[in-house]
Parts: sequence; structure tokens; C-alpha cells
Amino acid sequence: MQVIIFDDAQQVADNAAQWVAELITKKTNPVLGLATGSTPISLYQQLVLKYQAGEISFKNTTSFNLDEYLGIDEDNSQSYRHFMNENLFNHVDINKAKTFLPTCSQGENPREQGLRYEEMINNAGGIDLQILGIGANGHIGFNEPTSSLASRTRIKTLTQQTLSDNSRLFSPDEFQPTLAMTMGIATILDARYVLLMATGENKAKAVKDMVTGALSAVCPASALQMHENAIVVLDKAAASQLDDKEYYLWADKQNNKINEEFGLYHNY
Ligand code: F6R
Repeated sequence: MQVIIFDDAQQVADNAAQWVAELITKKTNPVLGLATGSTPISLYQQLVLKYQAGEISFKNTTSFNLDEYLGIDEDNSQSYRHFMNENLFNHVDINKAKTFLPTCSQGENPREQGLRYEEMINNAGGIDLQILGIGANGHIGFNEPTSSLASRTRIKTLTQQTLSDNSRLFSPDEFQPTLAMTMGIATILDARYVLLMATGENKAKAVKDMVTGALSAVCPASALQMHENAIVVLDKAAASQLDDKEYYLWADKQNNKINEEFGLYHNY
């Protein structure tokens, strides 16, 4: 796991944007895995700026989002499709027909939809770079604590903590879904690279459990310890409970030299 610590959230977003930019610029048909939530919004802002400056294009990019709520349709302003349109897709040259979320509309079978999503990812050649946030309870996607580390895209019941963490985004009279479709942990681990962004003090404990805790379904993000190319980009607050911060800072300097000489990626 490569742990990169920055002073603030803006630098986290800038760095994450560089990883995405290099991938979509260098690979002919890049496949991006995307996340919603507060954390990646500044990443998407950076990507829009880079697109507007003519530095990058999403013309040939296919994308797969981690998750989507059940029980609200895509026109609903709370849907993750709406979030992606508003924060990224409407502002860049991505072909929306090649942007996918694990939806399950009324009348559809979530089991079949999950299998279908896995098939679609495989047919696209697999995900090159999966963007992740982390829940305060250590979830990735909507893989809540005790999710199988071998899980695939499926329907999931959200925990009380996740519901209450996300309730800030719903007005009191608005329906807040308690079920979601989510990529599984094994689906995420199949991505060639994963880039997890975490900012803020309220993520510090989950970050510590992910990086130095036991590999355990209690902290789903700890599964990234099993990934060959996991990059964890943190601000100081999110890194505040990590021991060995000096080592990560030193290793990052070394990695910068290595990346300058050999590029950020080695096997996409
Ligand atoms: C969103 C997702 C979630 C979030 C996590 C952190 O697609 O999969 O796992 O990444 O809940 O959310 P924020 O960034 O709002 O703290």
C-alpha cells in the first residue's frame, strides 16, 4: 500500500487528478471506476478544470460507479447518476452511453443486475483505476463492516452509521434509501489500480484500521492490504492516527523519483 500524505484536502484532490489524468491520457480505452460522496467532489472539479484547459479528454473513457441507491430513479436529485452528471459527466466530453452505475429499477432482480454489472465490467476489459472514498466505519463502496471480502456486485443493507452519516444530504421530509447496489470487495480488488482518498479527522480511525489494522471484514477497506497497487491519498487530519508518518513521507519522495523516471503506472 502506498500512503501519500498531504497538508490539505486540495492537495489530495490535485494528486488524485494527476493519477486519473495520466491514465486517461496514456491508455487508449481507459476504464475508470468512480465514487460519489463529499470526498471526490474536489477531484472531479480538478478534472473538469483540466478538461477545460484542454489537458485531458474523456472521449474514449468508459466508467463504472461503485454504487447506486435502490428505490429512487436516476432523475431523482439524490441518485448517484444525478451526482455524477452534476459533478463530472455534464462538464466533460465523456460519452454518457459509456458511463455505468449498478442500477436496479423497480421490477428488476437485484441478483441478476449484480451479475450483469460484473459481466459489463469484464466485457469492458476490467477497471484500470478505481477511485474510492472511505466511510467512518471503514466501508468502501457500500460494503459495510462484515461484508464478505470475496463479495461481488449485489444488494446491500446500509448500516445505521452510514444512514446517519449520509442523512446530512437529505432534507427531513425526503426519502432516504436504506438499500443500495454496490460493487463487492472482490470487484474492487480486481481493478488494476485503486486510489483511495480520505480527508478530515473523522476518517482518521478508519484510515488507521485500513492501513495498519488486521485484515478483517470488520474494516472492509483493510482488504486493500491485499491489493498489489493500492494508493491511499490522505490529508494530515485523516493521517493523524497513523504511526510511522515520517516513513510514508520519505517513501513518497522516493516514489516521486521512481514515478518521474518510469511513469505512475506499470501494468495497465
Ligand atoms: C460513494 C461510496 C462511499 C463513500 C464513503 C465516504 O460512492 O462508495 O463508500 O466513498 O461513504 O463518503 P464521503 O466522501 O461523503 O465521506
